[in-house]
Amino acid sequence: MPAVTAPAQAPAPAVDPTARPLGQVGLADRYGRRATDMRLSLTDKCNLRCSYCMPAEGLAWLSKNQVMTAEEILRIVRIGVDRLGVRELRLTGGEPLVRADLVGIIAGLRQAHPQLPISLTTNGVGLAKKAQALKNAGLTRINISLDSLHPDTFAQLTRRPFLDQVLAGVEAAAVAGLGLIKINAVLMRGINDQGAAELLGWALAGGYELRFIEQMPLDADHGWTRADMITAAEIRQLLAAEFDLSPDPRERDGAPAERFEVRRHDSAELLGTVGIIASVTEPFCSDCKRTRITAEGKVMSCLFSRVEVDLLALLRAGDTAADDDAVATRWQEAMWAKPKAHGMDHTGLGDADYVQPDRTMSAIGG
Ligand code: GTP
Ligand code: 5AD
Ligand code: SF4
Repeated sequence: MPAVTAPAQAPAPAVDPTARPLGQVGLADRYGRRATDMRLSLTDKCNLRCSYCMPAEGLAWLSKNQVMTAEEILRIVRIGVDRLGVRELRLTGGEPLVRADLVGIIAGLRQAHPQLPISLTTNGVGLAKKAQALKNAGLTRINISLDSLHPDTFAQLTRRPFLDQVLAGVEAAAVAGLGLIKINAVLMRGINDQGAAELLGWALAGGYELRFIEQMPLDADHGWTRADMITAAEIRQLLAAEFDLSPDPRERDGAPAERFEVRRHDSAELLGTVGIIASVTEPFCSDCKRTRITAEGKVMSCLFSRVEVDLLALLRAGDTAADDDAVATRWQEAMWAKPKAHGMDHTGLGDADYVQPDRTMSAIGG
């Protein structure tokens, strides 16, 4: 007797994460988020070699032809703003100041978008000479990376002796009116962690908003370990030696940093605020509003994304309004597929779902 075979079952429909609904509004995703904050990397090149980001020998830089031109950048931002609901733009790198046409790019963006907040994230090297020109071109705000106030520690972390240049850059940015200036610091165990409170004292005195960022596994050397990472909880403890921190009552509104008001132990005087960006131990993916474009014109829907969608090829294929439509649609598809979260298991039980992207932080744009 022939064996009775089960009736063939219809295969489960394959889930296509890019199959977005008709009428998708802006850069929405499957989990109800909408990206309105655009981060655009101007270059993969950098003049520092921070150990949590780059290898000592640097990386193979993209060729000039692989990187978006100033015109392409203006066009992609226009598509984002005019068609897709982008409301804020941050320019990143590598190091954006190494791009010779940076001031011209900002001037062009400002002319096209008089009301758009445009900010820059930089390591501050060479900033002293350019801060005023950046302001005059229409830059709104600036964030500067600085991990230590000690020349030896700075040089150990960045593998370059440029602390004085960065400090001069911070001052010049303040003089030029590029505030509120935010300072980004990554703490590395045994290197600069004990300088956390000192760095905060310096930032408060200068009127800068310091943010500490948990080290993320986005380094070229794959040297990140959970045990070595200084967690947000540890950062709060390090600061508690000198300061009282209390939650900032202002709305967080999807910002990566959780802000705290800072006072000395023996005084009620509010000295300023400090932010802690706890990407690993207290992730904020559910409120994320960011869409990223790499220097080669690829969409990354998340900082940790392993999928990239090429817009530059489409941009270079034509320059009519219909071509802009095609770019906008592909961008929407890329964002519709944005993952729910980055998958680093913040319970500390394991990193089951997390696979480090091929790109380092410098090639994503921070
Ligand atoms: P403002 O607060 O508006 O000045 O901007 P920002 O904090 O987004 O700017 P910045 O470029 O200085 O980013 C600071 C750091 O926040 C980055 O270097 C990242 O470490 C972290 N960060 C920014 N965006 C994301 C994100 O989408 N996911 C995660 N996990 N971290 C992010
Ligand atoms: N983890 C956390 N922050 C990082 N940055 C670079 N690499 C990392 C990393 N692995 C920060 C820099 C800079 C911003 C763009 O990203 O300090 O402030
Ligand atoms: Fe350059 Fe920024 Fe990476 Fe440091 S963190 S090497 S400054 S891109």
